[in-house]
Amino acid sequence: MKILCLESSCDETSIAIIDENYKIYSHVTNTQIEEFSKYGGVIPELSSRLHEKNIYYVYNQAINESKLKISDIDYLAVTVGPGLVGSLLCGINFIKTLSFIYKIPVIEVNHMQAHISSLYLEHEVKYPMLSLVVSGGHTMIVKCDSPTEYKIIGQTLDDACGECFDKVARVLDLGYPGGPKIDELSKSGKVTYEFVHAKDDNSYDFSYSGLKSNVFNFVNQSKMKNIDLNKSDLAASFQFYAIEILVKKMKKASFEYGINNISVVGGVSANSYLQKRMYEEFSKCMFVSHQYCTDNAAMIGARAIFDLNNAVSFEKINLKVNLSVEKNCQD
Ligand code: KG4
Ligand code: ZN
Repeated sequence: MKILCLESSCDETSIAIIDENYKIYSHVTNTQIEEFSKYGGVIPELSSRLHEKNIYYVYNQAINESKLKISDIDYLAVTVGPGLVGSLLCGINFIKTLSFIYKIPVIEVNHMQAHISSLYLEHEVKYPMLSLVVSGGHTMIVKCDSPTEYKIIGQTLDDACGECFDKVARVLDLGYPGGPKIDELSKSGKVTYEFVHAKDDNSYDFSYSGLKSNVFNFVNQSKMKNIDLNKSDLAASFQFYAIEILVKKMKKASFEYGINNISVVGGVSANSYLQKRMYEEFSKCMFVSHQYCTDNAAMIGARAIFDLNNAVSFEKINLKVNLSVEKNCQD
Protein backbone atom coordinates (compact mmCIF):
# COMPACT_ATOMS: atom_id res chain seq x y z
CA MET A 1 0.00 0.00 0.00
CA LYS A 2 1.62 3.24 -1.11
CA ILE A 3 0.45 6.71 -0.17
CA LEU A 4 1.42 9.96 -1.85
CA CYS A 5 1.15 12.71 0.79
CA LEU A 6 1.16 16.45 0.46
CA GLU A 7 1.69 19.25 2.98
CA SER A 8 1.17 22.91 2.01
CA SER A 9 -0.41 24.58 5.04
CA CYS A 10 2.21 27.31 5.43
CA ASP A 11 5.55 27.98 3.74
CA GLU A 12 6.66 24.45 2.79
CA THR A 13 5.51 22.55 -0.30
CA SER A 14 6.30 18.98 0.64
CA ILE A 15 5.44 15.64 -0.99
CA ALA A 16 6.35 12.20 0.32
CA ILE A 17 5.61 8.68 -0.82
CA ILE A 18 5.35 6.28 2.09
CA ASP A 19 3.99 2.79 2.69
CA GLU A 20 2.12 1.21 5.61
CA ASN A 21 5.42 0.14 7.23
CA TYR A 22 6.56 3.79 7.28
CA LYS A 23 9.08 3.09 4.52
CA ILE A 24 9.71 6.39 2.77
CA TYR A 25 10.28 6.06 -1.00
CA SER A 26 10.83 9.77 -1.53
CA HIS A 27 10.42 12.98 0.44
CA VAL A 28 10.82 16.30 -1.35
CA THR A 29 10.33 19.67 0.34
CA ASN A 30 10.50 23.09 -1.25
CA THR A 31 10.74 25.78 1.41
CA GLN A 32 9.77 29.41 0.88
CA ILE A 33 12.03 30.57 3.73
CA GLU A 34 14.46 32.37 1.45
CA GLU A 35 11.66 34.42 -0.09
CA PHE A 36 10.15 35.33 3.28
CA SER A 37 13.47 36.16 4.93
CA LYS A 38 13.27 39.38 2.86
CA TYR A 39 10.10 40.36 4.69
CA GLY A 40 10.74 38.88 8.14
CA GLY A 41 7.64 36.66 7.99
CA VAL A 42 5.21 34.77 5.78
CA ILE A 43 2.98 36.76 3.41
CA PRO A 44 -0.04 34.47 2.86
CA GLU A 45 -0.90 35.66 -0.67
CA LEU A 46 2.69 35.25 -1.82
CA SER A 47 2.91 31.86 -0.14
CA SER A 48 -0.08 30.56 -2.16
CA ARG A 49 1.49 31.78 -5.39
CA LEU A 50 4.78 30.06 -4.57
CA HIS A 51 2.98 26.79 -3.77
CA GLU A 52 1.15 27.09 -7.09
CA LYS A 53 4.43 27.72 -8.92
CA ASN A 54 6.40 24.89 -7.29
CA ILE A 55 3.92 22.14 -6.56
CA TYR A 56 4.20 20.35 -9.89
CA TYR A 57 8.02 20.32 -9.74
CA VAL A 58 7.96 18.93 -6.22
CA TYR A 59 5.49 16.27 -7.38
CA ASN A 60 7.63 15.28 -10.38
CA GLN A 61 10.76 15.05 -8.26
CA ALA A 62 8.99 12.97 -5.61
CA ILE A 63 7.69 10.55 -8.25
CA ASN A 64 11.10 10.32 -9.98
CA GLU A 65 13.08 9.81 -6.76
CA SER A 66 10.69 7.09 -5.61
CA LYS A 67 11.22 5.11 -8.85
CA LEU A 68 7.46 4.54 -8.79
CA LYS A 69 4.70 5.57 -11.16
CA ILE A 70 1.49 7.32 -10.23
CA SER A 71 -0.29 4.07 -11.11
CA ASP A 72 1.57 2.44 -8.17
CA ILE A 73 -0.06 4.84 -5.70
CA ASP A 74 -3.00 3.42 -3.72
CA TYR A 75 -3.98 6.51 -1.70
CA LEU A 76 -3.45 10.24 -1.67
CA ALA A 77 -3.26 12.21 1.57
CA VAL A 78 -3.37 15.95 2.03
CA THR A 79 -3.37 18.51 4.86
CA VAL A 80 -6.81 20.12 5.07
CA GLY A 81 -6.09 22.44 8.02
CA PRO A 82 -5.35 24.30 10.13
CA GLY A 83 -3.23 26.61 8.02
CA LEU A 84 -3.25 29.47 5.54
CA VAL A 85 -6.38 29.28 3.36
CA GLY A 86 -4.72 29.95 0.00
CA SER A 87 -1.78 27.66 0.71
CA LEU A 88 -4.07 24.82 1.80
CA LEU A 89 -6.24 25.30 -1.29
CA CYS A 90 -3.26 24.89 -3.62
CA GLY A 91 -2.40 21.53 -2.08
CA ILE A 92 -5.99 20.32 -1.84
CA ASN A 93 -6.79 21.24 -5.45
CA PHE A 94 -3.62 19.56 -6.67
CA ILE A 95 -4.54 16.35 -4.83
CA LYS A 96 -8.18 16.55 -5.96
CA THR A 97 -6.99 16.81 -9.56
CA LEU A 98 -4.75 13.73 -9.18
CA SER A 99 -7.62 11.91 -7.52
CA PHE A 100 -10.01 12.83 -10.32
CA ILE A 101 -7.66 11.88 -13.14
CA TYR A 102 -6.20 8.68 -11.68
CA LYS A 103 -9.19 7.62 -9.54
CA ILE A 104 -7.16 7.42 -6.33
CA PRO A 105 -8.96 7.89 -2.98
CA VAL A 106 -8.01 10.83 -0.79
CA ILE A 107 -7.39 10.86 2.95
CA GLU A 108 -7.78 14.25 4.59
CA VAL A 109 -5.32 14.97 7.38
CA ASN A 110 -5.37 17.46 10.23
CA HIS A 111 -2.02 19.24 10.47
CA MET A 112 -1.79 19.14 14.27
CA GLN A 113 -2.65 15.43 14.44
CA ALA A 114 0.03 14.94 11.80
CA HIS A 115 2.65 16.69 13.96
CA ILE A 116 1.84 14.26 16.78
CA SER A 117 1.86 11.35 14.31
CA SER A 118 5.38 12.33 13.19
CA LEU A 119 6.42 10.29 16.26
CA TYR A 120 5.33 7.10 14.46
CA LEU A 121 8.08 7.69 11.89
CA GLU A 122 10.81 7.08 14.47
CA HIS A 123 9.33 5.76 17.70
CA GLU A 124 7.15 3.07 19.09
CA VAL A 125 4.38 5.21 20.53
CA LYS A 126 2.60 4.06 23.68
CA TYR A 127 -0.49 5.52 25.32
CA PRO A 128 -1.46 7.43 27.39
CA MET A 129 0.96 10.14 26.30
CA LEU A 130 1.27 13.84 26.93
CA SER A 131 2.39 15.69 23.85
CA LEU A 132 3.66 19.24 23.75
CA VAL A 133 2.84 20.64 20.30
CA VAL A 134 4.89 23.77 19.68
CA SER A 135 5.05 25.39 16.27
CA GLY A 136 4.75 28.71 14.48
CA GLY A 137 0.97 28.56 14.76
CA HIS A 138 0.29 26.50 17.90
CA THR A 139 1.36 25.95 21.48
CA MET A 140 -0.65 23.24 23.19
CA ILE A 141 -0.45 20.37 25.62
CA VAL A 142 -2.40 17.42 24.27
CA LYS A 143 -3.40 14.46 26.42
CA CYS A 144 -3.49 11.48 24.08
CA ASP A 145 -5.32 8.49 25.60
CA SER A 146 -5.19 6.56 22.34
CA PRO A 147 -4.41 7.54 18.75
CA THR A 148 -8.04 8.61 18.34
CA GLU A 149 -8.70 10.13 21.75
CA TYR A 150 -6.99 13.49 22.02
CA LYS A 151 -7.80 16.23 24.49
CA ILE A 152 -6.18 19.66 24.44
CA ILE A 153 -5.65 20.46 28.11
CA GLY A 154 -3.99 23.82 27.55
CA GLN A 155 -3.01 26.13 24.73
CA THR A 156 -1.85 29.62 23.95
CA LEU A 157 -4.34 32.40 24.44
CA ASP A 158 -2.57 34.69 21.98
CA ASP A 159 0.74 34.29 20.11
CA ALA A 160 2.24 30.85 19.53
CA CYS A 161 5.69 30.07 20.90
CA GLY A 162 7.33 29.82 17.44
CA GLU A 163 5.61 33.01 16.33
CA CYS A 164 7.10 34.77 19.38
CA PHE A 165 10.59 33.48 18.49
CA ASP A 166 10.09 34.82 14.94
CA LYS A 167 8.89 38.23 16.10
CA VAL A 168 11.61 38.69 18.71
CA ALA A 169 14.21 37.67 16.11
CA ARG A 170 12.82 40.35 13.82
CA VAL A 171 13.28 43.09 16.43
CA LEU A 172 16.87 41.86 16.91
CA ASP A 173 17.41 41.92 13.10
CA LEU A 174 18.24 38.21 13.01
CA GLY A 175 16.14 37.28 9.96
CA TYR A 176 13.39 34.70 9.36
CA PRO A 177 12.60 32.13 10.66
CA GLY A 178 13.74 33.43 14.00
CA GLY A 179 13.58 30.21 16.01
CA PRO A 180 16.77 28.58 14.65
CA LYS A 181 18.62 31.94 14.70
CA ILE A 182 17.78 32.62 18.37
CA ASP A 183 18.62 29.00 19.23
CA GLU A 184 22.06 29.37 17.62
CA LEU A 185 22.85 32.81 19.02
CA SER A 186 21.81 31.77 22.53
CA LYS A 187 24.61 29.21 22.61
CA SER A 188 27.13 32.05 22.99
CA GLY A 189 24.99 34.05 25.40
CA LYS A 190 24.02 34.07 29.08
CA VAL A 191 20.67 34.63 30.77
CA THR A 192 21.37 38.13 32.06
CA TYR A 193 18.23 40.07 31.16
CA GLU A 194 15.05 39.69 33.16
CA PHE A 195 11.74 39.33 31.33
CA VAL A 196 8.24 38.29 32.33
CA HIS A 197 7.36 34.64 32.66
CA ALA A 198 4.64 33.97 30.09
CA LYS A 199 1.41 33.09 31.99
CA ASP A 200 3.13 31.56 34.97
CA ASP A 201 -0.05 30.38 36.70
CA ASN A 202 -1.84 27.19 37.64
CA SER A 203 -3.49 26.61 34.27
CA TYR A 204 -2.07 24.69 31.32
CA ASP A 205 -2.62 27.65 29.03
CA PHE A 206 0.13 29.83 27.63
CA SER A 207 0.46 33.46 26.65
CA TYR A 208 3.37 34.83 24.67
CA SER A 209 2.18 38.36 23.86
CA GLY A 210 3.37 39.75 27.23
CA LEU A 211 6.87 38.31 26.84
CA LYS A 212 7.00 39.54 23.25
CA SER A 213 5.99 43.12 24.24
CA ASN A 214 8.40 43.01 27.16
CA VAL A 215 11.34 42.22 24.85
CA PHE A 216 10.16 44.73 22.20
CA ASN A 217 9.86 47.57 24.72
CA PHE A 218 13.18 46.77 26.33
CA VAL A 219 15.00 46.72 22.97
CA ASN A 220 13.30 49.91 21.73
CA GLN A 221 13.93 51.84 24.93
CA SER A 222 17.56 50.74 24.97
CA LYS A 223 17.94 51.94 21.37
CA MET A 224 16.42 55.32 22.25
CA LYS A 225 18.80 55.71 25.15
CA ASN A 226 21.75 54.54 23.02
CA ILE A 227 22.40 51.65 25.40
CA ASP A 228 24.38 48.83 23.78
CA LEU A 229 22.69 45.46 24.04
CA ASN A 230 24.40 42.11 23.97
CA LYS A 231 22.34 40.24 21.35
CA SER A 232 23.55 36.81 22.40
CA ASP A 233 22.58 37.47 26.03
CA LEU A 234 19.25 38.89 24.89
CA ALA A 235 18.55 35.82 22.77
CA ALA A 236 19.53 33.46 25.60
CA SER A 237 17.40 35.39 28.11
CA PHE A 238 14.32 35.47 25.87
CA GLN A 239 14.75 31.77 25.05
CA PHE A 240 14.99 30.94 28.75
CA TYR A 241 11.67 32.65 29.54
CA ALA A 242 9.93 31.29 26.43
CA ILE A 243 10.98 27.68 27.05
CA GLU A 244 11.00 27.32 30.84
CA ILE A 245 7.24 27.86 31.03
CA LEU A 246 6.70 24.98 28.59
CA VAL A 247 8.86 22.69 30.70
CA LYS A 248 7.18 23.79 33.92
CA LYS A 249 3.64 23.17 32.62
CA MET A 250 4.63 19.81 31.14
CA LYS A 251 6.04 18.77 34.53
CA LYS A 252 2.84 19.84 36.26
CA ALA A 253 0.66 18.01 33.71
CA SER A 254 2.78 14.88 33.95
CA PHE A 255 2.45 14.89 37.72
CA GLU A 256 -1.26 15.69 37.84
CA TYR A 257 -2.29 13.18 35.17
CA GLY A 258 0.25 10.58 36.24
CA ILE A 259 1.64 10.26 32.72
CA ASN A 260 5.38 9.86 32.21
CA ASN A 261 5.18 9.08 28.54
CA ILE A 262 6.08 12.48 27.10
CA SER A 263 6.70 13.82 23.60
CA VAL A 264 7.42 17.16 21.98
CA VAL A 265 6.57 17.84 18.32
CA GLY A 266 6.31 20.78 15.88
CA GLY A 267 8.89 23.26 14.61
CA VAL A 268 9.95 24.56 18.03
CA SER A 269 10.73 20.99 19.16
CA ALA A 270 13.95 21.44 17.14
CA ASN A 271 15.10 23.94 19.78
CA SER A 272 18.27 22.68 21.47
CA TYR A 273 17.53 24.31 24.84
CA LEU A 274 14.01 22.86 24.93
CA GLN A 275 15.43 19.40 24.11
CA LYS A 276 18.09 19.71 26.81
CA ARG A 277 15.60 20.82 29.45
CA MET A 278 12.99 18.21 28.58
CA TYR A 279 15.60 15.41 28.71
CA GLU A 280 16.71 16.72 32.11
CA GLU A 281 13.15 16.48 33.42
CA PHE A 282 11.95 13.42 31.45
CA SER A 283 14.84 11.16 30.49
CA LYS A 284 12.74 9.25 27.94
CA CYS A 285 11.04 12.25 26.34
CA MET A 286 10.41 11.59 22.64
CA PHE A 287 11.49 14.04 19.94
CA VAL A 288 11.70 13.41 16.21
CA SER A 289 14.74 14.21 14.11
CA HIS A 290 15.03 17.72 12.75
CA GLN A 291 13.57 17.03 9.30
CA TYR A 292 10.31 15.84 10.91
CA CYS A 293 10.03 18.67 13.48
CA THR A 294 9.16 21.38 11.01
CA ASP A 295 6.40 21.00 8.41
CA ASN A 296 6.89 17.98 6.17
CA ALA A 297 4.83 15.54 4.13
CA ALA A 298 6.11 12.36 5.82
CA MET A 299 4.14 13.24 8.96
CA ILE A 300 1.00 13.62 6.82
CA GLY A 301 1.69 10.09 5.63
CA ALA A 302 2.18 8.88 9.19
CA ARG A 303 -1.27 10.15 10.12
CA ALA A 304 -2.82 8.79 6.91
CA ILE A 305 -1.45 5.29 7.65
CA PHE A 306 -3.09 5.47 11.03
CA ASP A 307 -6.44 6.57 9.53
CA LEU A 308 -6.28 3.78 6.95
CA ASN A 309 -5.55 1.14 9.57
CA ASN A 310 -8.43 2.38 11.67
CA ALA A 311 -10.97 3.23 8.99
CA VAL A 312 -14.33 1.77 9.95
CA SER A 313 -15.19 1.23 6.33
CA PHE A 314 -13.63 1.94 2.99
CA GLU A 315 -16.40 4.49 2.29
CA LYS A 316 -15.21 6.49 5.26
CA ILE A 317 -12.08 7.50 3.44
CA ASN A 318 -12.91 6.79 -0.17
CA LEU A 319 -12.81 9.88 -2.36
CA LYS A 320 -13.25 12.43 0.35
CA VAL A 321 -12.68 15.11 -2.19
CA ASN A 322 -15.40 17.52 -1.13
CA LEU A 323 -12.88 18.83 1.30
CA SER A 324 -14.05 21.84 3.20
CA VAL A 325 -11.18 24.22 3.71
CA GLU A 326 -13.16 26.87 5.55
CA LYS A 327 -13.90 24.78 8.58
CA ASN A 328 -10.24 23.93 9.03
CA CYS A 329 -8.49 27.19 8.37
CA GLN A 330 -7.30 29.27 11.25
CA ASP A 331 -4.61 31.73 10.33
O1 KG4 B 1 5.90 23.25 12.61
P1 KG4 B 1 6.39 24.40 11.82
O2 KG4 B 1 7.35 24.12 10.68
O3 KG4 B 1 5.22 25.21 11.18
C1 KG4 B 1 3.98 25.41 11.80
O4 KG4 B 1 3.16 24.46 11.80
O5 KG4 B 1 3.82 26.54 12.32
O6 KG4 B 1 7.06 25.42 12.85
C2 KG4 B 1 7.72 26.57 12.41
C3 KG4 B 1 8.17 27.35 13.64
C4 KG4 B 1 8.73 28.73 13.32
O7 KG4 B 1 8.12 29.68 14.14
C5 KG4 B 1 10.21 28.57 13.64
O8 KG4 B 1 10.83 29.76 14.08
C6 KG4 B 1 10.16 27.54 14.75
O9 KG4 B 1 9.18 26.62 14.33
N1 KG4 B 1 11.46 26.86 14.93
C7 KG4 B 1 12.21 26.98 16.05
C8 KG4 B 1 13.40 26.25 15.81
N2 KG4 B 1 13.32 25.70 14.55
C9 KG4 B 1 12.12 26.09 14.03
N3 KG4 B 1 11.97 27.63 17.19
C10 KG4 B 1 12.93 27.58 18.15
N4 KG4 B 1 14.10 26.93 17.98
C11 KG4 B 1 14.38 26.24 16.84
N5 KG4 B 1 15.54 25.60 16.69
ZN1 ZN C 1 3.34 22.65 11.48
